[in-house]
Amino acid sequence: MAVLDVNGSSESPVKIPEIKFTKLFIGGSFVDSASGKTFETVDPRTGEAIARVAEGDKEDVDLAVKAARDAFDHGPWPRLSGRARGRIMLKFADLIDEHVEELALLDTIDAGKLFSWGKAVDIPGVAELLRYYAGAADKIHGDTLKMSREFQAYTLREPIGVVGLIIPWNFPSLMFFIKVAPALAAGCTMVVKPAQQTPLSSLYYAHLAKLAGVPDGVINVVTGNGPTAGAAICSHMDVDKVSFTGSTEVGRLIMQAAAMSNLKSVSLELGGKSPLVIFDDADVDKATDLALLGILFNKGEICVAGSRVLVQEGIYDEVAKKLAEKAKRWVVGDPFNPAVNQGPQVDKKQFERILSYIEHGKREGATLLTGGKPCGHKGYYIEPTIFKDVTDNMRIAQEEIFGPVMSLMKFKTIEEAIQRANATRYGLAAGIVTKDIDVANRVSRSIRAGIIWINCYFAFDNDCPYGGYKMSGFGREQGLHALDNYLQTKSVVTPIYNSPWL
Ligand code: NAI
Ligand code: MG
Repeated sequence: MAVLDVNGSSESPVKIPEIKFTKLFIGGSFVDSASGKTFETVDPRTGEAIARVAEGDKEDVDLAVKAARDAFDHGPWPRLSGRARGRIMLKFADLIDEHVEELALLDTIDAGKLFSWGKAVDIPGVAELLRYYAGAADKIHGDTLKMSREFQAYTLREPIGVVGLIIPWNFPSLMFFIKVAPALAAGCTMVVKPAQQTPLSSLYYAHLAKLAGVPDGVINVVTGNGPTAGAAICSHMDVDKVSFTGSTEVGRLIMQAAAMSNLKSVSLELGGKSPLVIFDDADVDKATDLALLGILFNKGEICVAGSRVLVQEGIYDEVAKKLAEKAKRWVVGDPFNPAVNQGPQVDKKQFERILSYIEHGKREGATLLTGGKPCGHKGYYIEPTIFKDVTDNMRIAQEEIFGPVMSLMKFKTIEEAIQRANATRYGLAAGIVTKDIDVANRVSRSIRAGIIWINCYFAFDNDCPYGGYKMSGFGREQGLHALDNYLQTKSVVTPIYNSPWL
């Protein structure tokens, strides 16, 4: 494994500009937090602070919800035609395209994400995501119902109201728009709480939304911590829905808060322990490329990471050997360097958490094939790590690590592959590598997960929904299905002419 400039950003090829937006965005203005408190956001390349950002708490959430409530109950946004909302969203998308470089930079310094990928894929991708839902905004309609008796009815699909959007740090831009874009199209107003590790791009997007013509109060951004600002959103009596992406533990707290307040509806996109199942007939070169990408992309900080690689016994040794060779060619280093494949983990907490899982793996008797250590003496870099001979009961096979740590496991039969692929509490994604269509069909139908990739991995698309089975959550994001999170259905019934009214 090559390591490039992990010991500081002094040689970083990009100059870090002054951070423009560090305050809460409420009712169309950037404001200090009510308490005046701020918190540091940290650059994971160095562990040093980038900027201080307003620390919102309950009082700020109350103000943001009030702004969103006013905008929903009295403002233009839910009352505009879908087409008019769509036009504003298209303008918003164009503004993102005009600021790609600056936005990609914010996510790199805040989260350690690859700058070249951000510029080429992440940021242009969120503009496309907005355009997708801009196109959907004027196609939201209900059904006409021919009822069994002398009535007719139609359904209206109405915006659900004020939505709380609580997002994680692993894809700060994508997570923002994966929720904000369908919520805007549906006609909702919202309070967004970005993760405390990565507040900067969300605030920038709030600024661009205003420039695009999104009315004040429609998008509010409250930066701050989960147990304070996040929890205040979840228990607020005037928030109609919470959409959350993050840990299973916090997902459970969110459902509790919803239950104990106004029974707001909830959708949850939680963790995963997704299997990639490689059968004997697979092309080993292609399979190992997929397996490596499946766990190392975005430093393993991705909910759908292929963290359990199940390989059939005939090619297991060859796959293990190839994976180890390829992992050694994977370049860890400063995410501004275009030659780098993997930047630092998001923060000290995740860095330490991943290293502690690696220790568990060793203690529980898995064989460390490659990696296993931090890189450099500054920042939060970790070597691509592969354990082989992992068994189902080990913690590294059961718990989400959210880092560059693969568990390699051997299986004999298709029945065993299916049983073991399903042997976790999670069910977010799965991959299958085989040339046999019958095997691919059978396994894809048997795995309990929200998205299955056959001979590919991470094949996402704006039009393709994904989400959790089992404890990976519920509700679907992306695709037209995501609109369901932000709409509710009203039936309107009327007697047919001359028919009795009851
Ligand atoms: P987390 O679940 O604590 O954080 C996600 C978001 O929830 C953040 O915005 C946070 O401020 C907020 N939050 C935290 N506590 C809250 C509360 N009581 N009420 C409302 N909002 C709250 O996740 P964390 O600690 O950052 O990461 C821990 C693990 O969670 C990771 O190692 C990973 O396994 C998993 N995770 C999964 C993600 C996914 O994409 N499904 C994303 C991030 C983390
Ligand atoms: Mg940060």
